[in-house]
Amino acid sequence: MNQPHDETRVVSTPDPIDFDALAARFRSLYDAEPDGLWAAPGRVNIIGEHTDYNGGFVLPIALAQHTVAAVRRRDDSVLRVASTSMDDGAVVTLNLTDIVEGGNYGWAAYVVGVGWAAAQRGLPVTGLDIALDSNVPVGAGLSSSAALSCVTARAWSDLLDWRLDDETVADLGRDAENKIAGAPTGLMDQLASVCGQEAHAMQIDTRAVTIEQLPFDLTGAGLALLVIDSRTEHSHADGEYAERRHSSQEAALRLGVRELRDVPLESLATTLDKLPPLLRRRARHVVTDSARVEQTARLLLSGDDLRRIGPLLNDSHASMRDDYEITVPSIDTLQEAAVAAGAHGARMTGGGFGGCVIALVDQGDAAAVADACVRAAEQAGHPTPAIFQAVASGGADRIR
Ligand code: GLA
Repeated sequence: MNQPHDETRVVSTPDPIDFDALAARFRSLYDAEPDGLWAAPGRVNIIGEHTDYNGGFVLPIALAQHTVAAVRRRDDSVLRVASTSMDDGAVVTLNLTDIVEGGNYGWAAYVVGVGWAAAQRGLPVTGLDIALDSNVPVGAGLSSSAALSCVTARAWSDLLDWRLDDETVADLGRDAENKIAGAPTGLMDQLASVCGQEAHAMQIDTRAVTIEQLPFDLTGAGLALLVIDSRTEHSHADGEYAERRHSSQEAALRLGVRELRDVPLESLATTLDKLPPLLRRRARHVVTDSARVEQTARLLLSGDDLRRIGPLLNDSHASMRDDYEITVPSIDTLQEAAVAAGAHGARMTGGGFGGCVIALVDQGDAAAVADACVRAAEQAGHPTPAIFQAVASGGADRIR
């Protein structure tokens, strides 16, 4: 007999963050009231992977899971920051005047790097006291780091009245990640964290840095988007990411274009013939996945049945698996299990080599698909996945 599907057993809901407790923690750490509380979310990318550093399109949503910062402005250049989830909550103290590219500041790099990036732009920067809490899973490819850098950037900008537009706030976050934390990311995660809107997905043109908010009302369509965290991460993920960036640049160079964005889809086959086999596959992924973003965006705009994006999700997964070679067995197992159990489409999301699979399902099938993923992972000897339902939510903002 089949086990009854108990949705609450397999699909979890994030633990809410207790804002009062965070403010109280701030007071006990720094013996002062915070000036305010800010929040910035993690993200999942619906489609368009490894296209953001190729000038292409991406289509993320901001999640309901977020990082919250209680912050107080200081008059000197000292930054003190503590997080409930890092270093047992210990306070890290740094001086903004000491921060240099290539320095080693641990997780605090994502915070202090924002101040460094602001100073580089000539903005007036003073220190801050910060207490953090977060329910964005760490190391799952859901951009906990962008949530951290962007909540910091938003708070700093608001408190010092920098009056920055959203794109610049996101850019400060990216500079912190790229130049101080040493993670060579594109701009997708930070833009998603800053610019997210409820019930919308963002089509981002990463070359023009423009965002089109597209309706993404899954609930209204009787759908759910499951995020299935494989709980596996490849130990060389950073090196592989950098290698894919390098291959993309190499392919663009050999094709005589500025970025792979400039390779037209129409003549793709003949263009790719000019490349050696490995670069051909890498370039094919980038160009076709960026095109799939545009196709998905057209579907969202047309008001057509959202289920129709399912095949695009599956194609994107196959492209990441076979051409860009950034999936791993635990991820492929989950993707296949989700589709076999009735998902309209599923794909890995994020940088790859572990992390999460997303699956578009009818609401009534969510529990069965989640259950099938858990069983498939266990049967294959992979870690038991953690599963939640993604809710397209608002971006970085002051909450108190
Ligand atoms: C990571 C990076 C992003 C993007 C994705 C892949 O999340 O931070 O900039 O390149 O990988 O799409």
